[in-house]
Amino acid sequence: MISCKKRAKYTFLLPFLLLFFVVSSAFAQAPEQSQTGTAGVTPGAEAPAAGGGGGADAALIENGQTLFKNNCTQCHSVGTDVVVGPGLRDVHKRRSEAWLIKWIKNSSALIQSGDKDAVAVFNEYSKQQMPSFAFSDDELKSIIAYIESASAAPENVQSAPSAGPEGAKAGENVGTDALGSVGGYVDLLLVVLVVVLIVLVITLLIIASVLKNYLKGKEDLTGAEQEMLERRTNFANIYKSKAVRVIVGLIVVVVLVDISIDKVMGVGIQQGYAPRQPIAFSHKLHAGDHQINCNYCHTSVYKSASANIPSANICMNCHSQIKKESAEIQKIYRAIENNKPIEWVRVHNLPDLAYFNHSQHTKVGGVECQTCHGPIETMEVVGQYSPLTMGWCIDCHRNTPLNTEGNAYYDNLVKLHEKQSKGAFVVASQGGTECSKCHY
Ligand code: HEC
Ligand code: HEC
Ligand code: HEC
Ligand code: HEC
Ligand code: HEC
Ligand code: HEC
Repeated sequence: MISCKKRAKYTFLLPFLLLFFVVSSAFAQAPEQSQTGTAGVTPGAEAPAAGGGGGADAALIENGQTLFKNNCTQCHSVGTDVVVGPGLRDVHKRRSEAWLIKWIKNSSALIQSGDKDAVAVFNEYSKQQMPSFAFSDDELKSIIAYIESASAAPENVQSAPSAGPEGAKAGENVGTDALGSVGGYVDLLLVVLVVVLIVLVITLLIIASVLKNYLKGKEDLTGAEQEMLERRTNFANIYKSKAVRVIVGLIVVVVLVDISIDKVMGVGIQQGYAPRQPIAFSHKLHAGDHQINCNYCHTSVYKSASANIPSANICMNCHSQIKKESAEIQKIYRAIENNKPIEWVRVHNLPDLAYFNHSQHTKVGGVECQTCHGPIETMEVVGQYSPLTMGWCIDCHRNTPLNTEGNAYYDNLVKLHEKQSKGAFVVASQGGTECSKCHY
C-alpha cells in the first residue's frame, strides 16, 4: 500500500510542473505584450487585417500593421480616441491618399506650404510636431491600407483605453483595459488552474482503477486491504486530499485578487465631473478667445508638483479695467474687499496615497496640458477629461517614449536598453511603473 501511495504522489508533480511552465512563460511575456497591446492595437485588430480588408492584399495590410505598430502606436490609435495625435479611424475618408503620404513623410513641410487641412489639424493638436518618416510610397500605402482595414472593424475591438470625455463608460473601460495586462494574466492563471484540476482528478481516477485492478489480482490481502478494495469511490476523500485543497485554495485566492484589481482600477473615477463654480469663469473666453497662456494664471505648473489656482489679484491685473460693471466681476471685487479667497470648487482630485508632479510632466516630460486635461481652451466650464486612474497613468508610461534627445544623462541608458529589449525606450523602461514612484 505504502509504495502505491508514493507512486500516486509523484504523479501529482506532473500537472504542477506543467502549471509552473505555463505560468512562468505567461509572466515572462507580460511586459512585451503590454507595450504593443495597450497602444490601441489589441490582439483583436489582427482579425480585420486578415479578413475585413475589403479586397486589399492581406500581406500588404500585415506589412502596414507592423510598420504602424513600430512607428505610430505610441501616438496614434486606429480607433477614435486621442493618444498624442488624433485617432486615425477613417482618416482615409477625410484625407486623400496623396495628402496622407505627404503628411506622414514630412508633416511640417505640408504645414508650412499652407495646406488648410494640415494647418488646421496642427493647430487643433496644440502645435505638437509629428516626426517625419522616410518611408517609400509603397510602405506608406501599406500603412494606409492597414488603417483602412482596421477602420472597417468594430470600434471597441481596437480602440485604445480612451482618455476622452465621451461617455462615462469610457472610465470603466480604462480601469479594466489598462490593467488588462495584469487582469488578463490572472484570468489565464485561473483557466490553467481549472484545467490542471481536471487533469488531476482524471489522473487520480485512473490511478485508483489501476490500483484496484492490481489488488484484485492478489490473493493474500489483509482485512484492511480487502475493505479498501470494496469501498466505493468516496467523494469526501477527494476533499480530504491535500493537493486538491491547495488547488482549490489557490483558485479562491486568484479570484479574490482578480476582483480586487478590478475594484482598485475603478476607485474614485469621476471622469466628466464639471462642477458649477462660484464665478462664471470661462477658459474658452480667457485661454481660447483671448489666448492667455495657461501659466499666466497657473503660475506653478512648470515649477512644482501642483498647479495653483490663481488668486483674485491675478484676475485684477485685467479686471481692474475690463468689464468692471459685470455682476460676475463684481464678485471678484467683493472677495478682495472682504479679504476672502474665491471658493473655487476643485475638479481634479487624486487620493492622498498617489503622488503626481506637474513639473515632471510639463517641463521635464514635455507633455502638453491638453494630453491630460483635454481641450481646456474650449471649455466654458472645466470638467475632468481623463479618468485619473492608476491604469491611465501606467498606460501612458508604457506608451510614451522618453524625450532623450540632447540629454546626455540618457545616452548610456538608451544604449543599454536597446541591447536588452526590442521595445521603445518609454517612461516605463525607466521605472515609471514602479509602485514607489507614485505611492509613498
Ligand atoms: C510623436 C508622436 C507621433 C508619432 C510617432 C506619429 N504621429 Fe501622426 N500625428 C501626431 C500629432 C501630434 C498629430 C496632430 C497634428 C500635429 O499636431 O502635427 C498627428 C497627425 C497625424 C495625421 C493627420 C490626422 C488627421 O486627422 O488629419 C496622420 C494621418 C498621422 N498623424 C499619421 C501617422 C502615422 C501613419 C504615423 C506612423 C508612421 C504617425 N502619425 C506617427 C503625432 C505623432
Ligand atoms: C485667466 C486665468 C486662467 C488661465 C489663462 C487658465 N486658467 Fe485654468 N483655471 C483658472 C481658474 C480661476 C480656475 C478655477 C475655476 C475653474 O475650475 O474653472 C482654473 C481651473 C483649471 C483646471 C481645473 C483645476 C481643478 O480644480 O482641478 C484646469 C485643469 C485648468 N484650469 C487648466 C488650464 C489650462 C490647461 C489652461 C491653458 C490652456 C488654463 N487652465 C488657463 C484660471 C485660468
Ligand atoms: C490677461 C487678462 C485677464 C485676466 C488675468 C483675467 N481676465 Fe477675465 N476677462 C478678460 C477679458 C479680455 C474678458 C472679456 C471681456 C469682454 O468680453 O469684453 C474677460 C471676461 C471675464 C468674465 C466675463 C465677464 C462678463 O460678464 O462678460 C469673467 C467672469 C472673468 N473674465 C473672470 C475672470 C477671473 C475670475 C479671473 C481671474 C482668475 C480673470 N477673469 C482673469 C481678461 C482677463
Ligand atoms: C500623457 C502621458 C502621461 C500620463 C497620463 C501620466 N504620465 Fe507620468 N510621466 C509621463 C512622462 C512622459 C514622464 C517622463 C518625464 C521625464 O522625462 O522624466 C512621466 C514621469 C512620471 C514620474 C517620474 C518617473 C521616474 O522615473 O522618475 C512619475 C512619478 C509619474 N510620471 C507619475 C504619474 C502619475 C501618478 C500619473 C497619473 C495620475 C501619471 N504620471 C500620468 C507621462 C505621463
Ligand atoms: C500627465 C498629465 C497632466 C498634465 C500634462 C497636466 N496635468 Fe494638470 N493635473 C493632472 C492631474 C493628475 C491632476 C490632479 C492632481 C491632484 O489631484 O493631486 C491635475 C490637476 C491640475 C490642476 C488643479 C490643481 C492641482 O495641482 O491639483 C490644475 C490647475 C492643472 N492640473 C493645470 C494644468 C496645466 C495648466 C497644465 C499644462 C501646463 C497641466 N495641468 C498639465 C494631470 C496633468
Ligand atoms: C504611474 C503611477 C502609479 C504607479 C506606478 C502605481 N500606482 Fe497605484 N495608484 C496610482 C493612482 C493615480 C491611484 C489612484 C487611482 C484612483 O483614484 O482611481 C492609485 C491607486 C492605487 C491603489 C488603490 C488605493 C485605494 O484607493 O483603494 C492601490 C492599492 C495601488 N494603487 C497599488 C499600487 C501598486 C501595488 C503598485 C505597483 C505595482 C502601484 N500602485 C503602482 C498611481 C500609480
